[in-house]
Amino acid sequence: MNKAIILAGGQGKRMKADMPKPLFKVLGEPMLEWVISACEDAGVSDICVIKGFMGEMIDEYLGGRCKTALQAERLGTGHAVMQAVPFLKEDESGHTLVLCGDAPFIDSDTIKSALEAHIEQNNAVTVITAELENPHGYGRIIRTATGISGIVEQKDATEEQKAVREVNSGAYWFRTADLVDLLGKLDCNNAQNEYYLTDTLSIAISEGKNAGAFRSENAQIIRGANDRKDLLELNDYARRAVIGKHLINGIGFTCTDGVIIERGVEIGVGTEILPGTIITGKTKIGKGCTLGPNTVIDNCEIGDEVTVNSSQLNESTVENDVVIGPYVHVRPGSCIKSGARIGDFVEIKNSTIGEKTAVSHLVYVGDSDIGKKVNIGSGTATVNYDGVSKNRCVVGDYCFIGCNTNLIAPVKLGKAVYTAAGTTVTGDVPDYALAIERGTMKINEGYTLRKLKATLPEKK
Ligand code: UD1
Ligand code: CA
Repeated sequence: MNKAIILAGGQGKRMKADMPKPLFKVLGEPMLEWVISACEDAGVSDICVIKGFMGEMIDEYLGGRCKTALQAERLGTGHAVMQAVPFLKEDESGHTLVLCGDAPFIDSDTIKSALEAHIEQNNAVTVITAELENPHGYGRIIRTATGISGIVEQKDATEEQKAVREVNSGAYWFRTADLVDLLGKLDCNNAQNEYYLTDTLSIAISEGKNAGAFRSENAQIIRGANDRKDLLELNDYARRAVIGKHLINGIGFTCTDGVIIERGVEIGVGTEILPGTIITGKTKIGKGCTLGPNTVIDNCEIGDEVTVNSSQLNESTVENDVVIGPYVHVRPGSCIKSGARIGDFVEIKNSTIGEKTAVSHLVYVGDSDIGKKVNIGSGTATVNYDGVSKNRCVVGDYCFIGCNTNLIAPVKLGKAVYTAAGTTVTGDVPDYALAIERGTMKINEGYTLRKLKATLPEKK
């Protein structure tokens, strides 16, 4: 079976944060996640991640998803792969992909095409390469009339070799049995006194085995980040690439300023995305929606023809033809049913809002089930928390909740109930009833004038 080894031992000193470099995020996902998903998309799921600097954070992130091995000392890329020899020996029959955990744009097509070439050429090792305008710092691919002779690192290269623009991406396919054998033959006699994984090519060739180079058309596969500026550039590239994909799929953008859409997001045709809109996680959006400006939607399922203006939606479901905003906060566990309207300064948490219900302004609905065609007046609050536990409010279909109603949970309002403005509802209300809880209004005539007179300085 084919395997993969991902090198994730790097520190990233110039990021100036105590975190392994592969955990820095591009478009909301750690770079390591991009690399793992490329492997998995290419059908390679037996993966060993080599950890080093703050390896416990890598373990914590992976949560047992991949195998790991620790490189306790940083003695080079060859030494890093040596830490996976026990993993390789579990099954030496197939091929092993080696990738860098901090080069997020390696893609599954490149991985698959490189494997095809690797097998077809009967190679012990095939390095994946790309051609760069500025190859400085990378290992150069030395080609000969018959094939390649090896890889020379920047620090070991002659002037002539430095002029070569085809470079090592840091990704390779190895025949697993040959990789185990070649790792045992590496030494550190070079400018950096490191065990170079790149030396496996010249060693294989010297032993009469085949070694090849697979040149990727996609030079992005090589990109990594050494500092925050590089990371911002990776984010920018990924952001544009995702928006580019949605443009092809018929999603409208008039201006992409501040628009961030993570790559796991699905959007239906004809939807318009306005500036400042951030859509993350596994969000799924239907057709013909208008989202934004200045809207955040995380892990939601949104139907068709939905409008969300200047609002935040988290881990919730919104059905078709709903209008939300401006300034609405929909918190996790909510479901807004079709045709509902949620207006300004409304917060909804862990609640269901029924079909065609209107919650137009200044309302808190928490832990509640609101029926269909209900009208909730301004200033209404579900009093869902008594300081110890959270309780639910149930409001039946066709209810009319007057302004400034407090619903003290747990409480149940039947069908078509009215509550008078200002009522604090402390018990269940039967179908078709009015709940009113109010003191009698008193009129104190001339009050203002008497008050003024009492406080004015005495006239001379
Ligand atoms: C390496 C290649 C170079 C290639 C470049 C692509 C070698 C000797 N050189 O360069 O040809 O063009 O990658 O980026 O392999 N790592 C460890 N442990 C170590 C050393 C490195 O885990 O002891 C990891 C790094 O965290 C990184 C990857 O290996 O993910 C590449 O290491 P890096 O130092 O960035 O690359 P170079 O050795 O400079
Ligand atoms: Ca590097």
